[in-house]
Amino acid sequence: MASLNLAQKIISAHLADGKMEPGQEIGLKVDRVLMQDATGTMACLQFEAMGIPRVKVEHAAIYVDHNILQTGFENGDDHRFLQTFAAKYGIHYSKPGNGICHQVNLERFSIPGKLLIGSDSHTPTAGGAGMMAIGVGGLDVAVAMAGAPFYTKMPKIVGVKLTGRLRPWVTAKDVILEMLRRLTVKGGVGKIFEYYGEGIKSLGVPQRGTICNMGAELGATTSLFESDEITQDYMTRQGRPQDYKRIAADPGCSYDENMEINLSELEPMIALPGSPDAVHKVRDVQGQDVHQVLIGSCTNSSYIEIMTVAHVLKGKKVHPNVTMAINPGSKQVLETVARDGSIYNIIASGARLLESGCQGCIGMGSAPGTDWVSIRSFNRNWPGRSGTKDDKVYLTSPEVCVACAITGKITDPRDLGEYPNIPWPDKFVIDDSGIVPPAPAQYADTLEISRGPNIRPLPLRQPMEAILQGEVLIRVGDNISTDAIMPAGAKILPLRSNVPAISEYVFYWLDPDFAKRAKEKHGGFIVGGENYGQGSSREHAALAPMYLGVKGVIAKSFARIHRANLINFGIIPFEFQNASDFDLLAQGTPVTIENIVGNLKQGSKTMEATTDKDKKITLKVDLTPRQRDVLVAGGLLNYIRSTTTQ
Ligand code: F3S
Repeated sequence: MASLNLAQKIISAHLADGKMEPGQEIGLKVDRVLMQDATGTMACLQFEAMGIPRVKVEHAAIYVDHNILQTGFENGDDHRFLQTFAAKYGIHYSKPGNGICHQVNLERFSIPGKLLIGSDSHTPTAGGAGMMAIGVGGLDVAVAMAGAPFYTKMPKIVGVKLTGRLRPWVTAKDVILEMLRRLTVKGGVGKIFEYYGEGIKSLGVPQRGTICNMGAELGATTSLFESDEITQDYMTRQGRPQDYKRIAADPGCSYDENMEINLSELEPMIALPGSPDAVHKVRDVQGQDVHQVLIGSCTNSSYIEIMTVAHVLKGKKVHPNVTMAINPGSKQVLETVARDGSIYNIIASGARLLESGCQGCIGMGSAPGTDWVSIRSFNRNWPGRSGTKDDKVYLTSPEVCVACAITGKITDPRDLGEYPNIPWPDKFVIDDSGIVPPAPAQYADTLEISRGPNIRPLPLRQPMEAILQGEVLIRVGDNISTDAIMPAGAKILPLRSNVPAISEYVFYWLDPDFAKRAKEKHGGFIVGGENYGQGSSREHAALAPMYLGVKGVIAKSFARIHRANLINFGIIPFEFQNASDFDLLAQGTPVTIENIVGNLKQGSKTMEATTDKDKKITLKVDLTPRQRDVLVAGGLLNYIRSTTTQ
């Protein structure tokens, strides 16, 4: 057999359907699944609708990390729903405060060589431990829990050779920011990034996780590293050496594309407000006043990072004009830093210590004030994601963050002097009291699921109608994120299990009247530019438009997860044959597409849409036979129900 790279090895070991040729649809047997509360509530309702008594994957976990603020009954109701649901159906439940799903998963459940899918776009973080981990929609997770394969297009595999060694104050975050600078937020679409070379030996598992985490911002299917002695060491310190397995590319393997980064040449980097790919060297933008510094998120909140920040803060004070908050990625990180005593340095500096969870990253608190410059160690800075409409959020490493917090200005951390090289603890604090295992299967029948009034029934789409007809309800530009389609934040997120209520906020920041108009017009079409639906895996960005009657999205191109989510909810993703036709489809333009079911069933690759004054435009429909069947059925749930026997 030919030499395989690592990604090909893991895929071939899980291949249930199709061929490993880039662009071909493949079905993969899923070992493990991960959910978080913002998407997982819906995934659970979807799983329940399939009528299967217990999950059929080897491990499933749901983490309450997004909606940990309880300002009304909604989040509390949802937490109790998730806990009782998890107990009954065979899922581990990670309590609020136990940590961010990706950090906890890396610590407690990552296993090299396994295939994980997760209803969160940063699921690839586990690639830092040699897992193939893919972010998907909640419905894909529900279907995998029912034992069905996960379908996706076989990506191209990009080999990224890391040479050299990071210099002091330069970090894994700078590696992925360099990738974003080179490739942009569209540069990874349809690709897996596989990192190799001598440079990986200077990166610990969480640092590798940082790089894989923000591969999501490249639009990549996933990113991964081999497992090696560094992985083994990490897992041993996690008290689970038995989970380690060596997995690496074959010698002499090849990649579809190749890149190289010399770590020795990198400098501290920062992404300017608006997009994670607006990357510059810190020294080129330094000097600007800073008002807020936030350290945390699934990208940068591991033990070494929080300890490094604590060490830098020792004996120093946060600048009087800066408000600084730190949220450790997990209870384990918090406990291990507390055991060391370094937590004192954080508190004494005047920084605010927040509990472990997503917090400000998802707009749950810490929204910046008007015109504040906010420096964050997070992964995303789409406008408005912070909870403040005209925010100015910069993305950078924790090292740059803490330098800014002390000086009150954007600062190159190399100006702080000697770099504190923090050693690993002999053993992390192993305390799984925040993870509730499922009830034994034999008692599952007897367990009741708690459903508060915030848990509303799951809306379903009807099978595809014969003619798609309606107006263009909104036309948006390039790189519209799922945050822009379905905003988050403390007011909106608690409504995630109440689709009628959350639907009122679709496109809210861009056009507060969208939901009202969509309902008055009985649905219609959305028109988008390039890379429509980039960003998080938020399936409410497809589910809520479906509820409002959106029948199709016509865009120049789509981001992978959102495109899959649209199909899953019975909304056809059309692409312009001629990008210039975008100009013809202004808001209010009528659109009619005839014989839609016939076209889907016949496998037509293009369809004709009739618009204003009988003008015709050609739309591309790039769908696999299975996706066509899903759309005809009115979405994946209808399709699975019609095809699965329990
Ligand atoms: Fe949470 Fe932000 Fe990561 S919302 S899962 S910390 S991207």
